[in-house]
Amino acid sequence: MAGFKELNPKDNFYQTSLFYPMPLVLITTLTDDGKTNIGPYSLVFPYYIAGKEYYAFLLLCRNSSNTAQNILRSKKCALNFIPDDKKYFKEAVRMGWPGDSTDEKMKGCIFTLVDGLRQEKNKEEKYPKVVKEAFQVVECTWDDSLDNAEGDKPGELSGYKGPFHNFNGITSPYGAHFILKIDDIMMDEKYWNSIVNGVKKNNFPRVPVDYGYRDSKNFWCSSHKAPNPELLPVRETTVDSVRYAAKRLQTDVEFTDEALAMLVNVPRIFLPLVLKGCVKWAEENGCKLITPVEMKEINDKRSKEKKNK
Ligand SMILES: Cc1cc2nc3c(=O)[nH]c(=O)nc-3n(C[C@H](O)[C@H](O)[C@H](O)COP(=O)(O)O)c2cc1C
Repeated sequence: MAGFKELNPKDNFYQTSLFYPMPLVLITTLTDDGKTNIGPYSLVFPYYIAGKEYYAFLLLCRNSSNTAQNILRSKKCALNFIPDDKKYFKEAVRMGWPGDSTDEKMKGCIFTLVDGLRQEKNKEEKYPKVVKEAFQVVECTWDDSLDNAEGDKPGELSGYKGPFHNFNGITSPYGAHFILKIDDIMMDEKYWNSIVNGVKKNNFPRVPVDYGYRDSKNFWCSSHKAPNPELLPVRETTVDSVRYAAKRLQTDVEFTDEALAMLVNVPRIFLPLVLKGCVKWAEENGCKLITPVEMKEINDKRSKEKKNK
């Protein structure tokens, strides 16, 4: 084990036994009397990213927290990603003191709460407000149908009794996992432009990295530095190898060499999938020969579908 020493994982292993980089997220939820509560969280990760009916995040949290109790009751929350700024981090740590009520922690809070997109679109319903200082906000609804978590209710603050769920709802006496369906994403206009028109070194948001609660005294967070780009290696396949993959498909649809040449940048592992997609389109459109014209149509259709998702 050249240079390494074994470390036994302990409870909260991501911070007691590892250096683990995490996001800094303020989760806004609704109290039972309709106020917005802010709780700082870092164990917030993408969960369903493709191939399902919806996209989702996973949140891991203490089940007696205001956030968990509010999600159990109203199912609604917003994930507010705050930029790197010492005063925001200080305030997030203040708001992370376990056991403070919403009124206690929201008194003098430096963040500005405003209506989100869901509130704007649906005036009759009540939604948690969102944090104006965030560079992006994801409005979510807890999917309690997964892992049969529909029966999980708020109200128990000194330890839930089992049986526990495996991955959604109340998962241990003091723990909860929430699979949060993404309802919408709100992006600061500047960074909306970066995502849509292309990122450069200097148009990323100032994203802090949280290293968690360490040395039983401090939370540690690193400052933003401009990210470095690294060019993807160019690994073009040849038209011959694309043709070889196309010939192996069980179909009488054919491709011209010019059409196949448009696929030389597709990584080999995705080639059968992409070719099958083209063939499916051809069969649905009564086409027997795919030329660059049809390829362009297929590409346009694909980007339109991506945009509408
Ligand atoms: C930066 C930061 C990140 C945190 N991340 C988490 C987390 O991912 N999960 C968790 O259960 N508690 C986390 N905590 C602790 C919670 O913030 C704490 O339990 C707080 O009381 C929750 O607020 P709430 O009761 O208003 O939800 C974090 C605290 C800080 C300061």
